[in-house]
Amino acid sequence: MMRVYCAKDYDHASRIAANIISAQVILKPDCVLGLATGSTPVGTYEQLVKWYEKGDLDFSKVHSINLDEYRGLSPENDQSYRYFMNTHLFNHININPANTFVPDGLEPDADKACRRYNEIIANSGGIDLQLLGLGHNGHIGFNEPCDEFEKETHCVDLTQSTIDANARFFKTIDEVPKQAYTMGIKNIMQAKKVLVVVTGEGKSDIVKRAFLGPITPQVPASVLQLHNDVILVGDKAALQDNFNDYLSK
Ligand code: F6R
Repeated sequence: MMRVYCAKDYDHASRIAANIISAQVILKPDCVLGLATGSTPVGTYEQLVKWYEKGDLDFSKVHSINLDEYRGLSPENDQSYRYFMNTHLFNHININPANTFVPDGLEPDADKACRRYNEIIANSGGIDLQLLGLGHNGHIGFNEPCDEFEKETHCVDLTQSTIDANARFFKTIDEVPKQAYTMGIKNIMQAKKVLVVVTGEGKSDIVKRAFLGPITPQVPASVLQLHNDVILVGDKAALQDNFNDYLSK
């Protein structure tokens, strides 16, 4: 089942997403949160930090498991997703750092890194709420359009356009990551609840294709139509009038 919430703008969408995550943490203080990086969740994390600072939230028993990480980047590298999570969320709340998981970018053995991550997910007892952003090509995590849905944590080759786009953040082209470790579609689909946040007009076409179009690995997020508990939070610019029939009444 899919529930859709249409926000006025990015800040409003961020508050709705943060409210949903807060509710999860309040209802189940020892929950497992699946988390994402990228520009979309920045506002959501900011809001969670504000409510934490007010004294309204307690993350002391929460575990978190992130979607993905660049292969070869250390946690101290400011382009790593571990660094992103620490600076946008973990450093500002009372989550136990030992209970926060991001794939190990410094593990050179890809099989080992992925196997270990699948074990971490399995040992956690399962993800209660998975937060997702949506890529312009329909990717979720680093699951890019392909011929079949990739199942569990795996190592992906980044597309040349992603490598080129990231190049500006690094001193030399050699430092730019060429691969990433990412949860697979099966890991994501096994989350009990999935929260997708999509904002901005630039995402209006892909969000429509992902949730209202055919289910195909060419649009990886379209598989979420088969999940039984998906919440889509979008702003007006992203959702347009395409989701009016689905809006939660
Ligand atoms: C982030 C991730 C990506 C992003 C997606 C959208 O951990 O796995 O799939 O969610 O690329 O990115 P933004 O939010 O920057 O548009």
